[in-house]
Amino acid sequence: SPSDPDLVERARAAKEKLGDKVFVLGHHYQRDEVIQFADVTGDSFKLARDAAARPEAEYIVFCGVHFMAESADILTSDDQKVVLPDLAAGCSMADMATAEQVAECWDVLTAAGIAEQVVPVSYMNSSADIKAFTGKHGGTICTSSNAQRALEWAFEQGEKILFLPDQHLGRNTAVRDMGLSLEDCVVYNPHKPDGGLTAQQLRDAKMILWRGHCSVHGRFSLESVEDVRARIPGVNVLVHPECRHEVVAAADYVGSTEYIIKALEAAPAGSKWAIGTELNLVRRLANRFAPEGKEIVFLDKTVCFCSTMNRIDLPHLVWTLESLADGKLVNRIEVDQETEAFAKLALERMLALP
Ligand code: 13P
Ligand code: SF4
Repeated sequence: SPSDPDLVERARAAKEKLGDKVFVLGHHYQRDEVIQFADVTGDSFKLARDAAARPEAEYIVFCGVHFMAESADILTSDDQKVVLPDLAAGCSMADMATAEQVAECWDVLTAAGIAEQVVPVSYMNSSADIKAFTGKHGGTICTSSNAQRALEWAFEQGEKILFLPDQHLGRNTAVRDMGLSLEDCVVYNPHKPDGGLTAQQLRDAKMILWRGHCSVHGRFSLESVEDVRARIPGVNVLVHPECRHEVVAAADYVGSTEYIIKALEAAPAGSKWAIGTELNLVRRLANRFAPEGKEIVFLDKTVCFCSTMNRIDLPHLVWTLESLADGKLVNRIEVDQETEAFAKLALERMLALP
C-alpha cells in the first residue's frame, strides 16, 4: 500500500537523528509501510535473538505485538528500553492463558497426582507471567520454528507435557512431526471445572494441550485447502502450524513465517503456491515473487489480517520515533524483575536447544 510521503519523510528524518541509538525490529506480519523502516525482519524466534544481539542500542522499537516486546525486554539489558509503538497491539491467543488460570491448572494436575511428571512448554505467544510459570516449573519456551526440538527436550525431562497456550501448534507438532497419536493428546479447558477432564484422562495423556488458538489461522479450513486445489491444479499448499490439525494434515508444507519465506525463495519459477498465514505477509510475498513467475495466492477467500499486528501503522511509528528523537521515552514495555528472572530462565532454555 502506498504510504503518505510526508509521514515517510518524517519517519526517515527521526530515525536518522536517532542513528545507532535506535534499533527497529519488524515481525513479518507488519504492514509494508512499517516494514520499510525495520532494521531487521523475522519470525518470533529470529526477532528474540536479534533483539538480544544489539547491546549498543538504547531503544529497541518493536514493530510486532506485546508478548514479543516483553520477550525482548527480558532478553536485553536493564538499561535498554523496549518500545511498542501502540500499546493496544496485543495477541488474542496470548490473552487466552492468564497467570491465575495456569496456577489453577497446576493445582488440578497436582490433585491428579501427575504434576511431578509434567514439563510445561509455552509458545512464545504468551505473556511474561506464563513464561515465568514455565521457567519456575522446569519448562521451556518454543516458537513455531523450534517446537519439535522443544518437545523432544521436554520429553527427556519428564513423561508428560503441558503445552500452552496454542492447542494447534502443540497437537500439530506432537502428531505430525513426532508420531504421537491424537489419543495421546487431551485439551484442558480453563473455563471448565478441572479443565473439563477426569483425573484418569490426565493420567493417560502424554500431551495436555491448553485450549487456546489463533483467531487468524483458525479461519483456514479443510474446505479452503480443497477449494484451492480444485481451482489451481498443481498448487502447493503451505501453511503455518497455528492452523487447525485437519488443515495442517491436508497441506503439503508446514512452517513458521521465516520457513514460508525460505520455501518460496527456493521454489522454482512457474510453481504455484497457496499460503495459509496472515495477509500482509502473503501479499508482500506475492508481489515480491511475481516477477520470477511464481504464483502465490492466499489460502482462503476471506481477507485475514491480524488486527492487532495491524495496529502498528506508520502514524504510530512516526510518533514513536519523533518522541524518542526529542528525548521523550514513550510506550516502554518493562517486565518486573521477579517475573523477568523466571521468564528468562525459560527463554534461555529455548535459546540453548540443540
Ligand atoms: P512466527 O513468525 O514465529 O512464525 O509466528 C507467527 C505468529 O503468529 C506471531 O504472532
Ligand atoms: Fe496472535 Fe494470531 Fe496475531 Fe500471531 S497472528 S499475533 S498468534 S492473533
